[in-house]
Amino acid sequence: MKHIAIAAALAGLLGIGLFLASAETRPRIEESEKPPTATADDMAVRQTLQARGAYLSRIGNCMGCHTAQGGRPYAGGHRLDTSIGTFVTPNITPDSETGIGHWNEDDLWRALHEGKGRQGAPLYPAFPYTEYTKVTREDSDAIFAYLQSLPPVEQKNPPSEIRFPFNLRPLIYIWRALYFEPGVYRPDAGKKDPWNRGAYLVQGLGHCNACHTSRNPLGASQGGLLGGGQIMGSNWYAPSLTSLQEASTADWPLHDIIQLLKTGLSSRAATAGPMADVVSQSLQHLDEQDAHAMATYLKSLPQSDPRSRGVAPPLTEEVDKLLARGGDIYKTLCEDCHGNLGQGRPNAYPALADNRGVTLASPVNAIRSILYGGYAPVTINNPRPYGMPPFAQILRDEEIALVLSYIRNSWGNRGSLVTAIEVDRSRKGAQ
Ligand code: HEC
Ligand code: HEC
Ligand code: HEC
Repeated sequence: MKHIAIAAALAGLLGIGLFLASAETRPRIEESEKPPTATADDMAVRQTLQARGAYLSRIGNCMGCHTAQGGRPYAGGHRLDTSIGTFVTPNITPDSETGIGHWNEDDLWRALHEGKGRQGAPLYPAFPYTEYTKVTREDSDAIFAYLQSLPPVEQKNPPSEIRFPFNLRPLIYIWRALYFEPGVYRPDAGKKDPWNRGAYLVQGLGHCNACHTSRNPLGASQGGLLGGGQIMGSNWYAPSLTSLQEASTADWPLHDIIQLLKTGLSSRAATAGPMADVVSQSLQHLDEQDAHAMATYLKSLPQSDPRSRGVAPPLTEEVDKLLARGGDIYKTLCEDCHGNLGQGRPNAYPALADNRGVTLASPVNAIRSILYGGYAPVTINNPRPYGMPPFAQILRDEEIALVLSYIRNSWGNRGSLVTAIEVDRSRKGAQ
């Protein structure tokens, strides 16, 4: 009975979706005529535009999603796991058969601003147009000029594997009606320029909220802007940028925030996993002015989010014994790098004492670090970062839980005890 009701509801939604689809399909605009022969001045203008587009594409990290592992840049084929299936990103080089060679400036604008493909069909929000819609027309045109200047790569990518019923594209119309509002960023008249520029970059091209938010079962962002959440389809938690217990930088000097954005490291934090990728692929390329603007905005974000650190254990004799066993493992396997007081070593091994990444209520990131190891981001300033070895083959779930409970409750840190079940879940969960 329940199934029939759901099926009927879906059929109804689909009907509406198809109706909207036909209503919104626009007639094709014919290819514009080839421009007359370009002069030297035109060429110079074009090159400036392309250079600007190259910079903006990096800040938007278009390449990060549109390049397969070890594949040709921008030729797509990158696999993106989500709760509704796996997306395989399209080729956005100017190849006319397999890429976007036939696209014009209006087409890219429609994609970024309205989230629609060239024929007007709605795109899945796995392409973060809910953020890119804030990008100005001018910046969109620069990105277009850059993409069209790339060498065309002929590469046909396999289709995405999206589960029924989400593979029915017209359903996106309903999602959009509920959760998407197109609109370029509007500067706040009460704020100065670096702040507005920072807000434009963070909320728009930088698409920070694509990860730093919690999502409802339909994948729509919920809760406050940048309020933190588990990243869809992965075992990473992107901490709240509006909570001092998590990743707010309100009490940092600007200089430290800029350093974190450009190098992935600061005296108080080391980025890892997806955030290390964001730094090495995108943020390290921020110019001085934009890095300063982004830091200014991040520092100003409200601390609206009084998230707790999870419930730290009472220090009973039993808990003491448990932590002591974790301490033994720490001495043997971790102390060489992270120090006997969890102090780490500057610019090499992160401190674990007073490190919010260690005490987050959700221990998933710390569990991952210990299971799979990792590297701080590769950047111009830090071309050969120090690495952390993986312990998945060396330590049992229970031992990882013990050592993690120990570092979450030593040197002034306080955090909930971690259980072997939580570690097991991370071993089995998505990468
Ligand atoms: C988080 C991953 C991600 C990022 C970052 C991203 N894209 Fe995409 N993009 C996608 C996915 C997934 C699709 C396919 C959506 C669909 O099938 O509906 C897509 C589709 C597109 C399309 C439509 C292509 C077509 O053939 O219909 C264009 C154009 C595009 N992206 C350009 C860009 C540009 C420009 C940027 C950077 C400003 C960018 N993308 C950044 C994931 C991403
Ligand atoms: C692809 C997902 C993703 C995107 C996009 C992303 N982040 Fe993150 N971010 C994470 C994850 C996961 C973590 C937790 C791991 C870590 O601390 O590095 C994190 C951590 C952080 C931290 C805390 C660093 C620390 O160790 O204390 C800051 C600050 C941050 N992100 C800022 C940003 C900003 C600003 C943007 C946009 C320009 C952004 N992030 C975009 C996933 C993302
Ligand atoms: C060879 C040196 C080395 C050893 C041994 C080592 N680590 Fe690490 N550890 C690192 C480095 C380097 C990083 C930063 C990696 C990154 O940014 O991805 C790190 C990161 C971490 C993090 C994440 C910190 C953060 O800011 O999010 C935790 C937690 C951690 N290590 C715990 C441990 C534990 C527990 C052990 C022992 C079982 C251990 N490490 C052994 C070098 C080491």
